[in-house]
Amino acid sequence: MNEMKCCLDGPVELLCEYCVNPLGLQMSKPRFSWKLMHHERGRMQSAYQILVASSEENLDKDFGDIWDSGKVNSSQSVNVEYAGKPLESGKTYYWKVRWWDDKGQVSLWSRTAKFEMGLLKPEDWKAKWIGGGNLLRKELTLHGKVKRARAYVSGLGYYELRINGCRVGDRKLDPGWTDYEKIVLYAVYDVTGHLREGRNAIGLMLGNGRYNVKPYRRRSQEQLPAHKHYGEPRAILQLMIEFSDGRQELIVTDEGWKVSKGPIIDDDIYDGEVYDARLEKDGWDLPGYDDSSWDNAKVMEPPGGTMFSQATFPPIRVVKKLQPVSISNPKPNVYVVDFGQNFTGWVRLTVSGPRGTEVKLRYAELLNPDGTINTAPNRSAKATDIYILKGCGVEVYEPRFTYHGFRYVEVTGYPGVLSINDIEGRVVHTDVESIGGFSCSNQLINNIHKNVLWGQVSNLMSIPTDCPQRDERMGWMGDAQLSAEEAIYNFNMVNFYTKWLRDIKAAQSEDGSVPDIAPPYWSLYPADPVYGAACVIIPWYLYLYYGDKRVLEENYDVMKRWVDFLTSKAENYILKFSKYGDWCPPGQIISLNTPGEIVSTLCYYENTLLLSKIAYVLGKHEDAKRYAELAEKIKDAFNKRYLREDYYATSETSIYSQTANAIALYLDIVPPDKRENVIKKLLNDIVVAHDNHLNTGIVGTRYLFDALTKCGYADVAYKIAAQTTYPSWGYMIREGATTIWERWEYLAGSGMNSHNHIMFGSIDAWFYKALAGINADPLYPGFEKVVIKPHIVGDLTHVSASLRTIRGLIVSRWWRENGSLTLEVSIPVNSVGEIYVPVKGAKNPLIKEGEMIVWKNDELIQKVQGITAARREGDYVIFNVSSGKYIFRVEWR
Ligand code: BGC
Repeated sequence: MNEMKCCLDGPVELLCEYCVNPLGLQMSKPRFSWKLMHHERGRMQSAYQILVASSEENLDKDFGDIWDSGKVNSSQSVNVEYAGKPLESGKTYYWKVRWWDDKGQVSLWSRTAKFEMGLLKPEDWKAKWIGGGNLLRKELTLHGKVKRARAYVSGLGYYELRINGCRVGDRKLDPGWTDYEKIVLYAVYDVTGHLREGRNAIGLMLGNGRYNVKPYRRRSQEQLPAHKHYGEPRAILQLMIEFSDGRQELIVTDEGWKVSKGPIIDDDIYDGEVYDARLEKDGWDLPGYDDSSWDNAKVMEPPGGTMFSQATFPPIRVVKKLQPVSISNPKPNVYVVDFGQNFTGWVRLTVSGPRGTEVKLRYAELLNPDGTINTAPNRSAKATDIYILKGCGVEVYEPRFTYHGFRYVEVTGYPGVLSINDIEGRVVHTDVESIGGFSCSNQLINNIHKNVLWGQVSNLMSIPTDCPQRDERMGWMGDAQLSAEEAIYNFNMVNFYTKWLRDIKAAQSEDGSVPDIAPPYWSLYPADPVYGAACVIIPWYLYLYYGDKRVLEENYDVMKRWVDFLTSKAENYILKFSKYGDWCPPGQIISLNTPGEIVSTLCYYENTLLLSKIAYVLGKHEDAKRYAELAEKIKDAFNKRYLREDYYATSETSIYSQTANAIALYLDIVPPDKRENVIKKLLNDIVVAHDNHLNTGIVGTRYLFDALTKCGYADVAYKIAAQTTYPSWGYMIREGATTIWERWEYLAGSGMNSHNHIMFGSIDAWFYKALAGINADPLYPGFEKVVIKPHIVGDLTHVSASLRTIRGLIVSRWWRENGSLTLEVSIPVNSVGEIYVPVKGAKNPLIKEGEMIVWKNDELIQKVQGITAARREGDYVIFNVSSGKYIFRVEWR
């Protein structure tokens, strides 16, 4: 090869399965991704080479003894599949990559990254599941210097691992929730630094989580189904130790472990934790502790599920700490602490007082008019932590095996005066990386965005939950799929959803139906079509936004069986089956305006069409054709049955539905000759009948904004979004919301009125897609092509958004000043862009990029590097660009 040698920078931000140096991968072909940097516009990757080695030394010598991909002529820089020698359990591998640009220049090698395998085969598990109490311990003597040690551990419902008196890792509420009879997640810890030559002690604390459900919840209650109960807590651990002299030793949980009851005398995710510090066993997790009074551990039945590593799945952590904004005393001896923000987690309390003093913490979202806490929205969740003092100086307590959704905490029984320094909020949720940023000139929109962010993370508790405070906290699939796009614009969600899709897959029944909630802790089959749609829509989003084809492959069968199930329920292509429909529109729970069958059939159509596209992507052309034809039939049947002169309705009801019409418009169901009329009537309903307010539930709200934008009425969508009167997000904020409510109304009783639901959070995706204009292209998924199409609406004078995608940073910012509009865009190296520069009605717009005129007399003046083509379409001039930063300016009056 006679490539030019140069100093092209090596790839950066190397990811394996979307993770930095993952520990414990459980798959045979991990995928590699990298990002490219270049100061010049328009640089593309023309080839790459990956080396994988068994040691850093080999890799340093450019020797890929495990895999050398050779020079592969390809622009692929995302999710390149490993194709080397079989990877082995527990082994660490080192890798690096270099790239060739479009001029044939080769880069330097990247820095070294690594990945490590988990326990790949069931036989790799030598340990037994043990239990019998909530403290488990074992001492061991190590002869020689420890070179490398790994702990593979799971404990159900929850566990905490301790070695030699220290907590290992920072995972909370681990492992992630699954249906334990199908899947059990385990964590891998590097514990090399925790062990030492000589005596060592390992300790495990166990909590109930969702494994050991309170007896009263195992039975159906008035409104709620019975919770699935699995059994007594149990744990499994395997400690693999390698010594400097090459010896290996495996420590496993078995009947040789000791067990006892600890200070946590009760723990439940809903009811809270009771911790009696007087029962602490001092030094139990240190060597030399006298455990002669402890029992031998009981060997327990394995939970039944396949052991699966959480290596790529983001753990739950304490992500933030909050100081109280105020502490009040609504009654004698009652403190109410206000954190100024509704969130998920618990508090950390500092206290000193006499032994046996009982401090009670009760959590709530709302206050009563008299300033006391209102716990009615928690329903049967007691949401109470109790700490009993041991009475020896300053004691610090925070719960381990519970969590709460709250803004206020009532503290009673506190000895002395509670001050702001004695109590701290711990914000706890799945620690997904924040990748999005959005702001604009309208502070209300920024506040809505902020509330959506809080609402979203509050509902990431290893699965997407509906709410964090009351007696549900379930993986309701409708809530999750409707908010998924918003979540993806804000956070790195790919591994979170990939895991959850496995939960859905595990929950699919023989007949192809999936449940309303996954994992199915409440057994609700079959799902409402809107809820079941998660198994099609979420894989599609992961393909669209991450270019992830594997997730489509892994879930293809699930979605196909689900769509076939819907077909088996449909009559003449109409799906009457509906449970929730357009859930929770203004003033209602079940929508009176939008008949369930309309929503179900629309959803059936959308799923079928998506399935056809997915089949096409996977090269299953026959399926693609078959489902496209089926979709066509559903569409015809839908129009035949529900379309009137200018709107959709059933024959029994002629009430107007924004939802039905918006979705039909968004999905292009409306026949061309009726389209204008349908749009007109929708606008009339919004603008005239509802004074620029929506009248939609969770489904309609998800589609209304996209539909209006698609039809050319982003300005109307903006008016709805920026409302401050009921029903609107602005109204919620006016009423004090710091997250997103379940209902459009302020309700404070014990019914359906969570103040921290994410299902109406879908609006936030529209801020990114329509206001900032950042869009993906299904033909070039994973932002291989970035479409930037901002809408300059209402009183907005500037909008700024950014997205750290798998291919690099995307930026779209626009502002209006002195009669001109500026649009600044960044497209990552190795991607291309299609940039829609708004020109409003301008007849003969003049557009500059930087200082150069690039568009004049309706033509591209091709002088600027990076701009490859341009065309005028309606209110936009569209530029095709290659990577780099562009600043367009156009007259705007
Ligand atoms: C949950 C919802 C869910 C609904 C379905 C509620 O209790 O909180 O968010 O979508 O039930 O009916």
